[in-house]
This record gives sequence, structure tokens and C-alpha cells, in this order.
Amino acid sequence: MLMLKPPITRLGGKSRLRKQIIEMIPEHTCYVELFFGAGWVYFGKEKSKVEVINDIDKELINLFRMMKYHAPEIERMLEYEFSGRDIFEEYKNYTIDYLTEIHRAVRFLYLISQSFAGKGNHYGYGTNTRPCPQIFYKNVLGDIKERLRNTYVENLSFEKIIEKYDRDYTFFFCDPPYFETAGYGFEFGEKEHLLLRDKLKNIKGKFLLTINDHEKTRGWYKDFNFRNVEVGYSVSNGNSGRRKYKELIITNY
Ligand SMILES: C[S@@+](CC[C@H](N)C(=O)[O-])C[C@H]1O[C@@H](n2cnc3c(N)ncnc32)[C@H](O)[C@@H]1O
Repeated sequence: MLMLKPPITRLGGKSRLRKQIIEMIPEHTCYVELFFGAGWVYFGKEKSKVEVINDIDKELINLFRMMKYHAPEIERMLEYEFSGRDIFEEYKNYTIDYLTEIHRAVRFLYLISQSFAGKGNHYGYGTNTRPCPQIFYKNVLGDIKERLRNTYVENLSFEKIIEKYDRDYTFFFCDPPYFETAGYGFEFGEKEHLLLRDKLKNIKGKFLLTINDHEKTRGWYKDFNFRNVEVGYSVSNGNSGRRKYKELIITNY
């Protein structure tokens, strides 16, 4: 099966775990991804009958919307783009409200792809790596656009999506921000994690959740099924930043 690569990088992206997660997806009609990010699992799995992708980040969802509707225009705008510190700063300092949605999408793609660790705040450069190629691609958006065809794109907080889409034939893939690690600019502490747990506890459908292995996360989900996994994430270029993390895959089936 052809596994698509997401068009962006994202902190905590599930590139290394996605095969294992995909193998564990149960039978379902409606596939819902509550915390989309770069969408590694969505882009890697087979299409479901109905699909929903959601993230609270407005700029991220706008990028996918624009890829869906205006892919050629995004490619046209990127055609003469190159990786430069001044351009990076210029994009960073734009007032979003004054930009068109297409321009906002290009800005987001530029900042994410040309920044250190995909965080969008510091210009990313290297001495043994070339600039990230995402802003130079041609015709990659076509596949992505095609993939988005039978998908509802949402931009709400996870609890509202659970309420709207929960059926006995719904499957939720949940990859929330890790507990007690750097965030995405949206608060996700114990309160949000417990709200997620309480919502998931009472659903009619099925869920699979990935979370960092922590005394508290184990405790919250003690009534469900666990699988322990170890993942090596590279934090910086080269191997010096590579560390192993313990992660849990939790399901209610
Ligand atoms: C760990 S990342 C998901 C990574 C993704 N699975 C991938 O493969 O790239 C978590 C995502 O949750 C989003 N997020 C944070 N708070 C949220 C909320 N309350 N509701 C929905 N999404 C939220 C963040 O914007 C971020 O993109």
C-alpha cells in the first residue's frame, strides 16, 4: 500500500509509530482523528468510508483547506521561493488578519518547514543538511488534495468533535499533546487530559490513544488495554539529539 508523506512536519508527529497504529485500527465506518497535526496515521492508512480530521490550530487547518481548494495557487506562490533568514522573519512578522487565506497557508508552510524542529519560531539552517524541500516541491499537493476528497475537515476542540461524531461504528484516533512536555501554544494540562479521558470513557465507538508513559497517564487509563512501545525521536539534526521515549498505546477494544 502506498503510504503518503504528510506535507508538513509537526512536533510529536507519529512517523515512527504509524505502522503499528495502523495495524491496530479496528473495523469502523467513520474514522476520526481528533489531534491531526501532520496527520501521519491518516496519510498512511487506507481510506475509510467516512473520515474526519480535526485540530484546534487554525493556521494548520487553514493550510489543509487551502491545499484542498487552491493547491495550484499555493504551488504558484512557492515557485520562486527560497530559504532565507530575512524571508523567514518577514513571514513570521506578518499580521495574519491582513493576509488572504492562501497567503496564510503559504506563510504557515514556510515557517513550519524552514524552522528548527518545525516549531515555526527560529530559522532552521544546518551545515550538513540542506534546506527543507517542502517549499520547493512541485505537484506534491495533488496527491494530498486527492486524499482529502472524502474527508470532513474540522477546527474545534476535541470534546466537541467527540460529541458530534460518536456512533457505535466510529473509531477515534487520539494523539493529544504529551503530558508535561512542550506544547503547541494551546493549553493542554491535566485538566484537558482528564476531560479527554472522561469523554473517551463514555463513548459508544472505539478509541486508540497514544500518550507518553507516565505514572499519571497510566493511572488515568487503568481500566483500558495497554501496549508499551519505545520510540526514538530525533530532536536535532544528527544523532546526538536522539533519545528513546516510552509511550503507551491505549485502546477500549
Ligand atoms: C501530538 S500532535 C499530533 C501529531 C499527529 N498525530 C501527527 O502524526 O503529526 C497534537 C496536536 O493536537 C493539537 N491540539 C492541541 N490542543 C487541542 C485541542 N484541545 N483540540 C484539538 N486539537 C488540539 C495541536 O495543535 C497538535 O497539532
